[in-house]
Amino acid sequence: MTRVGILTSGGDCQALNATLRGVGKSLYNIYGDKVEIYGFIDGYKGLMYNNYRQLSPSDFTNLLTQGGTILGSSRQPFKQMRMPDANGLDKVEAMKATYRKLKLDCLVVLGGNGSQKTSNLLSEEGLNVVGLPKTIDNDIWGTDITFGFQSAVSLATNVIDCIHTTAASHNRIFIVEIMGHKAGWLTLNAGIAGGADIILIPEIPYKIDSVISKVKQRAAQGHGFTIIAVAEGAKTVEDAKLSKKEYKKRVKEMLKSYPSISYEIAAQIEEATGREARVTVPGHMQRGGTPCSYDRILSSRLGAAAALCISKGKFGVMMAIKNRKVVSVPLADIAGKLKVVDPSSDIIAEARLLGTSFGDE
Ligand code: F6P
Repeated sequence: MTRVGILTSGGDCQALNATLRGVGKSLYNIYGDKVEIYGFIDGYKGLMYNNYRQLSPSDFTNLLTQGGTILGSSRQPFKQMRMPDANGLDKVEAMKATYRKLKLDCLVVLGGNGSQKTSNLLSEEGLNVVGLPKTIDNDIWGTDITFGFQSAVSLATNVIDCIHTTAASHNRIFIVEIMGHKAGWLTLNAGIAGGADIILIPEIPYKIDSVISKVKQRAAQGHGFTIIAVAEGAKTVEDAKLSKKEYKKRVKEMLKSYPSISYEIAAQIEEATGREARVTVPGHMQRGGTPCSYDRILSSRLGAAAALCISKGKFGVMMAIKNRKVVSVPLADIAGKLKVVDPSSDIIAEARLLGTSFGDE
C-alpha cells in the first residue's frame, strides 16, 4: 500500500481543487486500490495537529470547476515554523510525528512561496515531499507560471473593463488596485489586458509627477478619463531607496491617512489636477470563483505529473512549467527566492510602445 498525504496551504486560489483532482485521479489510476490518500485540514495546521481525513475516489470528482479548497487552508508563516506554538508544541516535530504515525510515503503540498519554504524544510528533515506551485501572484521561482494566476488575471481584467465604461461616461480618473503582494505580475498582465493607461508595479518604482503628467497629457489630447492599474505593493522611487524597516514605517504612516497606497495616489492626483480620482479595490474577489480554462489544464497537468513523480520515487521537488513542459525543480533551489517582473523584459518594452506609462519617465 502506498500512503500519500496532501494539503493546501496559504492564501487560496481558484484552481486548488482542480489540482487536488489531478493528483487524486492520477494516483488512483496508477495504483488502483493500492493507494491511500490522506487530506490534512487547513494546510500545515492539519499536519501539526493531527487533523486529517482519509479521502476516497469520490472526493476527487466534481472538483474541476470548483473554486476554493475542499481541504481548507491557513497561513502558517515559515518564519514561525521553528517557534513553539502557544502550548509549547514543536511544530516541525509535530508534523514529522503525524507523517510517521500515518506511515506516509509522501506529502504533497499545494502552496505558494512561504509554503514551499516549509516543504523544503520538511524535505531537509527527511520527509518525502512533492510541491505544487499555487498562487495568484505568480511569484514562485522555478516555474514560468503558477496555477491560479491566469484566473486572477481574467477577474482583474474584467474589473478594469467594467471601470473603463463608467470612467469614460463620467470623464473620471480611476485607479484599480490589484493584488500580487510584492510582485507586479497580476497588475502588469491585467493592466495590459484591460488597456490601462498607467500601470504601477513594485518592480518599477514610480514618480508621482510622472503619473500626474500622464493624466494631464491624456486630458490635453482629449481623453477625458484615465485608468490606472496599481499593484498593492507599488512603490515610489523614494520608497524603493528605503531599508526594509524604514519602508515598513513609511507604510504604517501612510495607512494612518489612507486605506492603501491607491488612495494616497488618488489624493495626490486630485490635488495636482483639481479633478476627481476614484479608487476600486476588487480585493479577494481576485482569488474567488471558478478557475479559467487555462488553469484547469495547467492544474490537471501538474497534478498528473506529481502523481507520476511519486510513483517513480522522486521527492524533494516542486512540479513546474518551463517553456510549456512540465518539469520538476528541486525544492532547495526555489526555497526563499521570489520571481518578480524584470523591468527590462520584452513585455514592458511592448507595453511602453503601446503608450502605457509605468510612472517612471
Ligand atoms: O498571495 C495571495 C494574496 O492574495 C496576495 O496577492 C495578497 O497580498 C495576500 O494574498 C492577501 O492575503 P490575505 O488573504 O491573508 O489577506
